[in-house]
Amino acid sequence: MLVITVLNLKGGSSKTTSAAFIAHAMHESGLKVLAVDADGENESLLQWGSLGEWPFPVIGMAVPNLHRQLPGIANGKYDAVVIDTPPMKEQRSIVLSAARLATHVVCPMAPTPIEYNRLPAVRQLLVDVADLRDGDAPAFAVLFTRTVSNAASTEVYREMVAEDGDYVLKPTIGRLERYSQAFGMPIENALNSAYGDAVIELLDLDVQKEIA
Ligand SMILES: Nc1ncnc2c1ncn2[C@@H]1O[C@H](COP(=O)(O)OP(=O)(O)OP(=O)(O)O)[C@@H](O)[C@H]1O
Ligand SMILES: [Mg+2]
Repeated sequence: MLVITVLNLKGGSSKTTSAAFIAHAMHESGLKVLAVDADGENESLLQWGSLGEWPFPVIGMAVPNLHRQLPGIANGKYDAVVIDTPPMKEQRSIVLSAARLATHVVCPMAPTPIEYNRLPAVRQLLVDVADLRDGDAPAFAVLFTRTVSNAASTEVYREMVAEDGDYVLKPTIGRLERYSQAFGMPIENALNSAYGDAVIELLDLDVQKEIA
């Protein structure tokens, strides 16, 4: 079972939007999806799933032992679980738990100085996760969101993140009305969007990892 955990230290970094579109892209690709809202304060994913009448279940599970509770609910019933997390400054234990059972961790961020500045804390969390998993870290990728087309900054930050040793998915999510106005609505054609391309690349990453 694939477990995609969407996390970032920073509030308002497109975690919920990314979790929503990634879950839909996976659903549209034929996978049986469960979406999990681990942000108990906002419950945005839970609300969005209900308002938007999503075609797969969304459950609330904002607990620091998610890695123990979720397998009992999801194992054998779903192909893929997508977890939306709270900003980890407030709820680090929940985010850590959501990353502990991940096959893939995605960190959405804008290619801007303020968001780049927060990446070391994400990296530290992944080091802690690897320790808790006896060195077996989940695949990790940064996803640039809220990008402006043709802005030079996107490629500059891609190189900076690469130099720091992290991978940035090739597709980037533009700063678009499609996403800023999406909350509470049904989501269609996610697989044909940049999020679909990002999911395909993300899962390919795993294939490459297995070959290596
Ligand atoms: N690609 C995008 N283009 C334009 N607006 C976007 C995009 N992605 C997200 N947004 C907007 O940015 C804001 C923050 O997004 P979102 O709620 O997904 O972030 P979050 O990381 O889940 O926030 P929180 O930490 O509060 O849970 C929202 O208003 C959302 O609509
Ligand atoms: Mg959110």
